Amino acid sequence: MAAGHVETAPSMGQVEFNGYLIEQMISEHELHVITQRLADEIYRDFKGKDLLLIGILKGANLFLGDLARELGRGNAEIGRPPMPVELDFLQVSSYEQETSTHNVRKHIDISTEIKDRNVLLVEDILDTGHTLTWIKEQLKDREPKSLSVCVMLDKPERREVFLKPEYTGKIIPNKFVIGSGLDFNQQFRNLPYVGVVIGPSQSRTVAV
Ligand code: IMP
Ligand code: MG
Repeated sequence: MAAGHVETAPSMGQVEFNGYLIEQMISEHELHVITQRLADEIYRDFKGKDLLLIGILKGANLFLGDLARELGRGNAEIGRPPMPVELDFLQVSSYEQETSTHNVRKHIDISTEIKDRNVLLVEDILDTGHTLTWIKEQLKDREPKSLSVCVMLDKPERREVFLKPEYTGKIIPNKFVIGSGLDFNQQFRNLPYVGVVIGPSQSRTVAV
């Protein structure tokens, strides 16, 4: 370190990233355990059946990749064999008006015909429920055989419309989380764990 500069290390459970201090909430290991358990549940329900996973971009990209790999790997501990699935994606954005009505806009549609197919929507986090409710309504019109939802995280305290996912990774408190696909202003998506931004990093190089 250059003379005339001091650094202070973050405390345990806190990590620096991109000039910010992040408090870890869900470790990489826990995310792996969660994803494996979800793959076990999905296999139990869809074994031997056709299944299309639809990831909701951008946030679900990392989680969908992990989940698809878990399904493809199988789980020797419980004798779950590898399960083939197809993948597709759609991209939406939502914004809140002053009346707190959510409007969802679709930017990219799936390229797969879903009529008579088993569809599993894969999302990073379920918050108010408006986004997934809107997407489900859109896709139902295309007459899939089944349409279910898998979320990595759920913040039920924030729900404004009733929606209960068939597969839930972890229920979390009402905190804004980042990492594992989740962003704040498009930042932090590639953090391999889930955390909460505490504030600017204290260990930036400080001139003295
Ligand atoms: P909702 O369920 O329609 O309110 O919206 C869910 C979407 O809001 C998610 O797909 C995320 O993009 C975003 N979102 C909600 N809570 C968080 C959070 O804690 N961190 C990052 N994005 C979030
Ligand atoms: Mg999202």
